[in-house]
Amino acid sequence: MSGHAAKPFRLAALMLVMMQTTLLLAAEQPEYPTDQQSGLIMAPGWQLVAGQCTGCHSARFITSQSGDRETWESMIRWMQKTQGLWQLPAEVETTILDYLADNYPPGKPSRRANLPVYLLPN
Ligand code: HEC
Repeated sequence: MSGHAAKPFRLAALMLVMMQTTLLLAAEQPEYPTDQQSGLIMAPGWQLVAGQCTGCHSARFITSQSGDRETWESMIRWMQKTQGLWQLPAEVETTILDYLADNYPPGKPSRRANLPVYLLPN
């Protein structure tokens, strides 16, 4: 008997979650067009990212990732330590991190969840 009593409540909870998801998706409508060539969102700073971040690999590495500012910063540190990425001037790095954290935040649909930095190859 107990299992049946809980059902309507569970249904209501499920509907709430679905409504929230719809609202979240509506709020994430893209404000900026996407660059046809690189696939980058053309928000402020994108040209800097295109210039600094697509010399070694395609911008798809970026557009398929997501993370908060710290996650993006640790990816940059990892590339600097192990992949030959150069030092970025402070204000360039700030613009790039602002752009990445704003446009590719955690939870945006992406290819897969982030690998934590400690799982990346050294
Ligand atoms: C000097 C070369 C170089 C530059 C410049 C460079 N990267 Fe990378 N990046 C790499 C290499 C090498 C990899 C690893 C490729 C692989 O896994 O095969 C990588 C991987 C990545 C990944 C994938 C990490 C993952 O787990 O999927 C992201 C995201 C990334 N880079 C973002 C950036 C950003 C943002 C910039 C600009 C600040 C940048 N890269 C500039 C060399 C570079």
